[in-house]
Amino acid sequence: MAISSDKFRLDGKVAVVTGAGGRANSIGRAYALGLAQAGASVVVADLKEEGARAVRDEVVASGGRAIAVGVDIAKPDSVRAMAAAAREAFGGVDILVNNAALMAELGHLAAIDIPIEQWNRILDVNLTGALNCAQALVPLMRERGGGKIVNQVSGGAFPALSVYGIGKLALVGLTTTLARQLGREKINVNAIAPGNTMSEAGRQLTPDDSPFIKMLEATVAMRVRGQPDELVGALLLLCSSAGDWITGQVLHVDGGWVLRP
Ligand SMILES: NC(=O)c1ccc[n+]([C@@H]2O[C@H](COP(=O)([O-])OP(=O)(O)OC[C@H]3O[C@@H](n4cnc5c(N)ncnc54)[C@H](O)[C@@H]3O)[C@@H](O)[C@H]2O)c1
Repeated sequence: MAISSDKFRLDGKVAVVTGAGGRANSIGRAYALGLAQAGASVVVADLKEEGARAVRDEVVASGGRAIAVGVDIAKPDSVRAMAAAAREAFGGVDILVNNAALMAELGHLAAIDIPIEQWNRILDVNLTGALNCAQALVPLMRERGGGKIVNQVSGGAFPALSVYGIGKLALVGLTTTLARQLGREKINVNAIAPGNTMSEAGRQLTPDDSPFIKMLEATVAMRVRGQPDELVGALLLLCSSAGDWITGQVLHVDGGWVLRP
């Protein structure tokens, strides 16, 4: 059988990308632009609605189709309104990219001293937020006979050494659980684990002279730092028919930081 690059195309598909409208040069922005370039209509969703509108405008200016939606993924009502907006604009949803998270604002918070309210808020966004989005959008995927979910985890979950890492490792658990539950309905559920990525948030969290970067420089097989664009190929694999037989996996895109058999 011939393999064609057409298998990576997303023409006629509708993708929701959360966390796509915040800081400049974000990973969500790269995802929204990449999905649109592959042919998908994109729902650019973020807590920061103004940022979402700016990314929507970029997608449209580059010839794509997109709408902007303000959403708080920690609030089921807000997520349901996002699902309704997607259906109204594009008739349904095929792809969910759970990319929104609290990260740079957390620093390297250790678990032992964290006030429990703060712990709950972090998990509400970084873990339950992804479940809220899946619960709201899987019914729309079922209507279309299948779909793709990609959860954005992190190399920082292998192993988890911070509250952020704990949330991301739990999101790996949600990935495998949903993959098993939804597989027979032709809904693939996978995760991408980026390495140190030079979004504005990534730069803020890990400046060149941080001990974390020194640690990476001693261990990473290739380049320590990547650009948001360098994650898009993995996303297109997991969102397109090229990845139809891949589910329940974590795809590490990190220059060889987390090496797993
Ligand atoms: N930059 C890196 O080095 C790196 C590495 C590994 C994983 N990641 C992950 O990649 C994703 C994107 O990271 P980024 O570097 O682009 O950071 P970013 O801060 O630019 O993106 C996160 C986005 O999530 C949004 N958000 C936060 N809370 C929200 C809520 N309750 N509802 C809706 N949106 C909300 C923010 O407004 C922001 O736009 C995150 O999941 C992050 O954990 C980043």
